[in-house]
Amino acid sequence: MPSLTAVILLGRDPLSLFSPEVCAAPATEWRFLARRFVLVNEPATIERVLASHAERYGRNPMSNRMLRTVLGDGMLTSEGEVWRAQREQVAPVFRRERLAQMSDVVTARVEAMLDAWEAARRRDDPVDVSRAMSRLALESVAGALFSIEMGTRADALLDAMDELGRRLARPRVLDALARPSATSRRAVRGPGGALRRLVASMVRERAADRHPPADLLTDLVAGAGAGGAGEAQVVDQVLTMLVAGHETTAVALAWAWHLLAAHPDSEARLHAEVDAALGGRLPAHADMARLPYTKAVLEETLRLYPPAIAISRLALVPDDVGPRGVRPGDLVMLSAYATQRNPALWAEPLRFQPERFVEGAPPRYGYVPFGAGTRACVGRGFAMMEAMLVLAALAGRYRLERCGEQPVEATGRLSLRPREPIRMRVRARARA
Ligand code: HEM
Repeated sequence: MPSLTAVILLGRDPLSLFSPEVCAAPATEWRFLARRFVLVNEPATIERVLASHAERYGRNPMSNRMLRTVLGDGMLTSEGEVWRAQREQVAPVFRRERLAQMSDVVTARVEAMLDAWEAARRRDDPVDVSRAMSRLALESVAGALFSIEMGTRADALLDAMDELGRRLARPRVLDALARPSATSRRAVRGPGGALRRLVASMVRERAADRHPPADLLTDLVAGAGAGGAGEAQVVDQVLTMLVAGHETTAVALAWAWHLLAAHPDSEARLHAEVDAALGGRLPAHADMARLPYTKAVLEETLRLYPPAIAISRLALVPDDVGPRGVRPGDLVMLSAYATQRNPALWAEPLRFQPERFVEGAPPRYGYVPFGAGTRACVGRGFAMMEAMLVLAALAGRYRLERCGEQPVEATGRLSLRPREPIRMRVRARARA
């Protein structure tokens, strides 16, 4: 049995918890000192915890406290009325008609990246696909939601995120038990502070703008009032959207390129679809309905490599979940990674096979890369749109080829990232 103690005490990769046996079991229990952790891994129970009986569960106070040190009281960490008000303010931004407007921002960012890649292709330089996708996703979300050109700030923000990731990847016993230790809080304070200062400068620029664009940032600034606590709240919200909105999509795209390079049949089918639908031009929102295989490639990537490997909830009251039920104080874990590799739900679960999403719908609550229920990902529609546009635009012009034969391993620290950045060569390709 993979040991939670080894993850917490020895710093073993959290991914080691989700062995093939754990992925196949309907539930698994771990203990760490006095705390019980229950992983639930069947659709009915997942539905119960996240949707129909969600009021019986709260956010995981341990991970939440750590996240709060950096993200404050943004939508990812807030609860109750604060969360409800934030969600009501943000959700309309992601409505269908607004997504269509935002798609142009994404396409413009992709176009700029394609130009840079053309230079790399000519020189035969490998590109760091992980970093390129992070930058692209960050610029897309900043541009689409907040009308911000990140420019050189993109690298500063990504560097601070990477540093934060490295520091948070070292688990500490006290963090797992109760509250972040002073050492842990100090560790995140440096890069966390850099992130907050960067975002605060963007918020102040907007507050001083006499002709602000009509977007979410302007709404947030207008709603918060000047300076002090008001500004801090806006920083919490903007930082939360930037962080939640770029790392996940970027990681999914990096895995998609890796998987496509390893599966030439899927790559060929993607190329054929993109060529038929776009005929060499860049994709727009209206093209999305004609790119079902492109969508399936992403869905299958998110099945095998869900960026959010697991989410957790604190049981507030007793509930009939897992083989022995849960008691208040137990932590209930739900893992998209484990559930989406559960052989009881998926035929040949380890095989990359986008066709399964073309041929049928995934099992309800057996496919949860965006979570589910009231706290499901608010940016899901945007993420899928953005990733489809990026995939179609790039695949319309290039193939990405692996550099070397080293296997690319996944790590479960923070998000389900490749252990080392994915580097690939850009190759021109003839259109079908
Ligand atoms: C492939 C990309 C993405 C994945 C896999 C993903 C995954 C998730 C998951 C699993 C949750 C639920 C967490 C929980 O229940 O504890 C979540 C929540 C959230 N996501 Fe995403 N996400 C993605 C993209 C985005 C984007 C693009 C944005 C914003 C632009 C975003 C913003 C958020 C926010 C604000 C929440 C908190 C929602 C709430 O608690 O009400 N995400 N995401």
